This record gives sequence, structure tokens and C-alpha cells, in this order.
Amino acid sequence: MNKTEELKKAAGIEAIDFVCTGMLVGLGTGSTAEFAVEELYNRIKDGRLSEISCVPSSERTRMFAEGLGLNIVELSSERRIDVTIDGADEIDSDFNLIKGGGGALLREKVLAQNSERNIIVADDSKLSQRLGSRFPIPVEVFKFAFEAQKSYLEGFGGEVRLRLVGDGSPFLTDQNNLIIDWYCGEIEDPFYLADQLSKRAGIVEHGLFLETVSDVIISSLDGVKHFVVGEKS
Ligand code: A5P
Repeated sequence: MNKTEELKKAAGIEAIDFVCTGMLVGLGTGSTAEFAVEELYNRIKDGRLSEISCVPSSERTRMFAEGLGLNIVELSSERRIDVTIDGADEIDSDFNLIKGGGGALLREKVLAQNSERNIIVADDSKLSQRLGSRFPIPVEVFKFAFEAQKSYLEGFGGEVRLRLVGDGSPFLTDQNNLIIDWYCGEIEDPFYLADQLSKRAGIVEHGLFLETVSDVIISSLDGVKHFVVGEKS
């Protein structure tokens, strides 16, 4: 395991301290979230946790969690998720995020909006002063609307790329939509931009996650730090 993976693992493990017996847990997508899922499994296996149910944020995570034998359930109107643990692609100083590097932004946002507690786990390479400076905004687009949304995003400036997989064909989300990675550069007002993107028919979801987080766990060579959003220290 390289140093970055070790840092991701440390953050993922720490997040499981916030899971208690009997909880409904939202499972994020990506390598950091998978370290958390593994730790959840370890604590169930050794008896430290029991009666845990999980809602995965992607088919990738569903397969990973099912492979470990975790109890997978659907989102239900009867019960909110107690805690969701997910990764991020970029985190600004207000703990707003860019997410969707794994293409799971739509389900990830659904989980984030339906969780009592939303914990983001990451290594410190994900931190930036301003969103957009390190990572493009992933924009999930309904196929029919692709060309129109591409032109719309180009109108703001920056570079717009259709996400592809290894064989050169388009990446498809779990909902069978396309992803546009929009290299828009530093975003001056993410709230304004998120509002504009949300208004567009054909944009299914965008990767700006604003004010969705309750806790952030960041690991660095100096150790693991837990931030409660609103109580920065
Ligand atoms: C998935 O769609 C993303 O939002 C992930 O949370 C993100 O790509 C983080 O991935 P890593 O944990 O692998 O860096």
C-alpha cells in the first residue's frame, strides 16, 4: 500500500468510530469510502458492531459491500440514514465539496440529503482554498440533452470533456447517463453556479456538494483530524 492509500485507510477507519450498533449506514463510493466499508465489516465480524444495515451509493459499492456479506437495504420513507461515510474529490476551507470522480454523484447526493450525519473522509491532498482549482466539476447529463448541455457549459468558459472509459466509449452512470467533466477553473461563487446548473433540464445532477457535510475526517502525515462543520479548529 502506498502512502496515499495508507492515509485514505486511516481516515476511513476513524469514521467507523461514529457508527453504533443498530444504525442504518450510507456507504459512499471510491477508494477511501471502501476502506471505511472494510472497517465496518471488520467490526461486525469481531462483534464490536451488530444489526447494521447499509444503503450503498453506487452499484460498485453495492457489489463491494455484498461481497463482504453486509446487509444491504433500499432507501425507505420510514427511516432516515443515521450516518453516511463518503469520500470527496476536492474540499474547500468551508467544507464545501466537489464529488463525482467515481461517477456516483447523483446517489451520493441523495444519501447526503437523507442522512442525519454526513461524514467526509479524505487524505489532505483533497484540500484546496477554492473549489475548481484542483478538480473538474462532474456533471451528469441525460443523453438526449448532451450536446445542448455541453454548449451551455462552454458558454461559462473552461474546458468541457465527455468522460470516457478505457476502450474510448462513454462512461455511463448507474442511471445510464453521461458525465461531462467540466474544467471550469477556480469557482468564485459555487452557490450561484450550483443554482444555475440545477435549473437546467437535461442536467441530472452536478458534483457541487454545498453545505451537505456535518463532519470531515482528514488524514495527513501529521495524523488524523476530525472537524465538526461549524466548529472549525
Ligand atoms: C465518487 O463519485 C466520488 O464522489 C468519490 O467520493 C471520490 O471520487 C473520492 O474517491 P477516492 O476516495 O478514491 O479518492
